[in-house]
This record gives sequence, C-alpha cells and structure tokens, in this order.
Amino acid sequence: MNTVRVPASRSYEVKIGSGLLQSLGAEAARITKGRVLVVTDENVAPLYLAAAYRSLHEAGLGVCTISLPAGEATKSPEYYLKLLNLLAEKQFTRSDLLVALGGGVIGDLTGFVAATYLRGVPLIQVPTTLLSMVDSSVGGKTAIDLPTGKNLVGAFYQPSLVLCDIDSLNTLPEEVFSDGCAEVIKTAILFDRELFAHLQERGKDFDREYVISACVRHKRDVVCADEFDRGERQKLNLGHTIAHGIEKESGYLISHGRAVAAGTAMMARAYCKEKAAVVALLQQFNLPVTTEFSAPTLAIAALADKKRSGDTVTLVVPHAIGDCRLEKVPVSDLEAVIQRGY
Ligand SMILES: NC(=O)c1ccc[n+]([C@@H]2O[C@H](COP(=O)([O-])OP(=O)(O)OC[C@H]3O[C@@H](n4cnc5c(N)ncnc54)[C@H](O)[C@@H]3O)[C@@H](O)[C@H]2O)c1
Ligand SMILES: [Zn+2]
Repeated sequence: MNTVRVPASRSYEVKIGSGLLQSLGAEAARITKGRVLVVTDENVAPLYLAAAYRSLHEAGLGVCTISLPAGEATKSPEYYLKLLNLLAEKQFTRSDLLVALGGGVIGDLTGFVAATYLRGVPLIQVPTTLLSMVDSSVGGKTAIDLPTGKNLVGAFYQPSLVLCDIDSLNTLPEEVFSDGCAEVIKTAILFDRELFAHLQERGKDFDREYVISACVRHKRDVVCADEFDRGERQKLNLGHTIAHGIEKESGYLISHGRAVAAGTAMMARAYCKEKAAVVALLQQFNLPVTTEFSAPTLAIAALADKKRSGDTVTLVVPHAIGDCRLEKVPVSDLEAVIQRGY
C-alpha cells in the first residue's frame, strides 16, 4: 500500500492499494463515533456495498446506505436535495460521516452534499473508477450540474480520507477503464517522463499501485500550489479545451476520456517536439487521436466555455513530455492552433 499525504486547507491521506475496502470501517471509526451514510450507485452497489457495510458495521458504527441511478444525470439538484433531505430526516449531525462509494459522479455529488449539509460534515471518498482514483476524488472540487451546463454549482471541500482499493478496478467496463487511462496519460505528459515510459512499456497492463500513486502525487502537488484554481491548477486541463468542444458537438455521445485523448493528441501535434510518442501511446491504449469535427466548430464551442477571459484563452501547451506551460492565446488565433492539431 502507498500513502500520499495532501496538505491542503484540510490535511488528509490518500491510501492506494489492494483490499482497502476491508479497512473502511476501522478508518471511519477514527473519524466518527456516530453514524455513516454510504452513497453509491446502482452499478457499484451489487459489487461493493455489502463489503463496505460489513466493514463499517463490524467497526461498531451505525450505517445507512443509499443507491442512486448510475450516470451523469444523477449529479443533479434533484438528487442533491434528495440526499440533504435524507440526512435531515435521519437527523445526521456534524459529527456523523458521509462515504462516497463509486466513480466521479457519486464522488462529486456526495462531496457537495458533505460540503453544504450543516455547513460541512466529514467525508471519506472511496473511488471505484480509475478516473475517480487519479483525478476527481483528490483535490476537493465537488459539484452538481444544471440543465445549462456541467459542474455549475459546487464547492471546494476536501475529504478527510481517500481510499483507493485497486481491486475495484477489476470489474470496470473496458470503456470506463480507458476513459481513466486518458487522464493517466495526460498526467504523464504534464509531469512525469518515468510514468510515460512505464505506460509505453506496459500498456494497459500497467502497475496500478505505482501509476495511481504517481498520478495522485502529481495532482496533490498542483492542488497544494493552487487549491482554489486561480492559476497552476489549470494545467490539469491539458487537452480539455478541445475535448469540451468534442464532447459538446457529439451531444455527449463521445465520453470525456476519449475526448481528452483526442484533444491531447491535437495539442501535441500543434506544439510538442515529442508528438509522435504522445500519439503512439494514446493509440496503444486504443484511444482516439483525432476528431471528425472541424477547427472552426471546435473553436466556437471552446470559446463558449467558461475558461475564456476577455480577448484571450489560456491553453496548456505541451512543449515536451514533462514540460507543459500555461500560455495565453488571443481568441482570434484559437482556430489556427486547433487546425495545426489535425
Ligand atoms: N471533482 C473533480 O475534480 C473531477 C475531476 C474529473 C472529473 N470529475 C467528474 O467525474 C465524473 C466522471 O467520473 P467517472 O468517469 O468515474 O464516471 P461515473 O461515476 O459515471 O462512473 C462510470 C461508470 O462506471 C460504473 N462503475 C463505477 N465503479 C465501478 C466498478 N468498480 N465496477 C463496475 N462499474 C463501476 C458507474 O456506475 C458508471 O456507470 C464527471 O461527472 C466529472 O465531471 C470531477
Ligand atoms: Zn478530465
């Protein structure tokens, strides 16, 4: 097992290893002597909820559980209110605990509930997708969606603990695992030649504990330098300006991870002296490296995005593996930049 300490506004540990779900009860009992609400989704519940329940129960804690429909549509005001009402009806107090058992959808929703119910109750994240282990469970961004757009309502709220049980990845559908791989490859391009080389050598059969730990450490470093997303943290958006355009133009039929892969490949072609290696690695993971949508279409979609400020957009420019910089590009040049990426 690896432990990564995250010294953010609340300091906490991320534990990464095999069989960690069994230790949930003992870990939770260090945070609360009261009750626990486990929030999960309908795909994860039949796989892992019984083990989570057993571990918490054996640690002497009172356990409530709720299983919500799987999918992005659950990150909604409706389910947010449903959870708040459940906590209020059950008279949960600030010394009780929430556990988010699932992917980024459950993590973001439960995190926002934890941030706001009684102005904050403790939270343990138990991410069960690769994306949620390497990205969404660490760093304290929580959110729900509105009909007008994703993640429009949320809070920065750090968990008290993150438990990444790598065994839970064994049941992930192939496409969901691949989506997470796109964010792993993104992290390697941003910060870590050694990680990049490991992925080249091992492909999808990578050492999960090593790779997830490396990604969590990099995310920790960025988050601690810029917890509230005013600058450095934007680096995590490598490939994401183009990706958001691709997702939107596809009517969200193309997943986030596949869109990020295409966006990252296009930024590499536009700027990176190691573009061939980047494109080859994404292809090795069966991820897309281009898109059917045109540069003008993607530029318009990107400019409608919230990341625009005045006459410039900030792009994460990958000059080389491990050398990526935030650069402001005039709005009028964006289409030409994207065009260089095909
Ligand atoms: N907070 C952040 O910093 C941050 C960062 C990146 C993404 N996100 C958010 O994360 C969400 C995406 O997360 P995701 O990709 O984990 O999606 P998800 O939570 O929808 O999970 C993907 C699918 O996998 C299923 N699943 C989860 N774990 C499983 C397991 N172990 N075995 C079998 N099936 C399993 C889920 O039921 C779901 O159908 C988006 O809403 C995105 O906005 C947040
Ligand atoms: Zn992403």
